[in-house]
Amino acid sequence: MKNRPFYKFTHDDDMIWTMLYEKQYPEVQRYAHPLYLEGLDKLKITPGRVPNFDKMNQFLMDTVGWELVSTDVQYTDGQTWFEHLAERKFLITEYIRPLDSLDYTPLPDIWHDVFGHLPFMVHQDYADYLQEFGQRAIEFTVEQRTDGGLGSLWWYSVEFGLMNIGNELKAFGAGLMSSYEEMQRAMNGVVEVVPYSIEVTGKTTASPHAMHNRLFLIESTNQLHDVLHHWCDRMRVGEFAL
Ligand SMILES: [Fe+2]
Repeated sequence: MKNRPFYKFTHDDDMIWTMLYEKQYPEVQRYAHPLYLEGLDKLKITPGRVPNFDKMNQFLMDTVGWELVSTDVQYTDGQTWFEHLAERKFLITEYIRPLDSLDYTPLPDIWHDVFGHLPFMVHQDYADYLQEFGQRAIEFTVEQRTDGGLGSLWWYSVEFGLMNIGNELKAFGAGLMSSYEEMQRAMNGVVEVVPYSIEVTGKTTASPHAMHNRLFLIESTNQLHDVLHHWCDRMRVGEFAL
């Protein structure tokens, strides 16, 4: 099936994009994981206007073999989301938050999808990890994924993970990059920070409708691979009741 063309954002959308960018850029410079900052630079994501999708798409296809796919669905169901990841397709929402929700919105939007996620996607290892996550996820049923806490493992790493670089706490999750308030809370000691693990993280309910009070510290990008593999091994032998 042919992908829908990318939505054309308006001048007002570009203004909101620029306001978001100008507020959050200093925050990511200060707090984001270096992989993110490298990617932001490589993708040439700038203020002024919502980025040109055809250019970003070409760049990602050429560098890591991923394709951006435009969608008007704001919360894609898990199965569809994982099926797209398994095919190296990243869904981008055709919507930008309104002026009164600049610091926080529970709905994913173009700001979150592009500014939050895409800078990580220029790295082959990360891009491969997301594909593998999707592939592994669809090997199990929705019930197995829910019982095993797979959604929480995703949420508290790809969306809201933290990682230490040297002695410094850095933001790793896309949801932190795209939310001023979540970033402030994570970096200024408001949230509890505990180690990322199948048991504890998997049991922690993920909700997009409230600010986080607890986030998880991932040891390294290697740990993400290890946890995913370990989770699959446990599921295959039926140890999925957390
Ligand atoms: Fe996201």
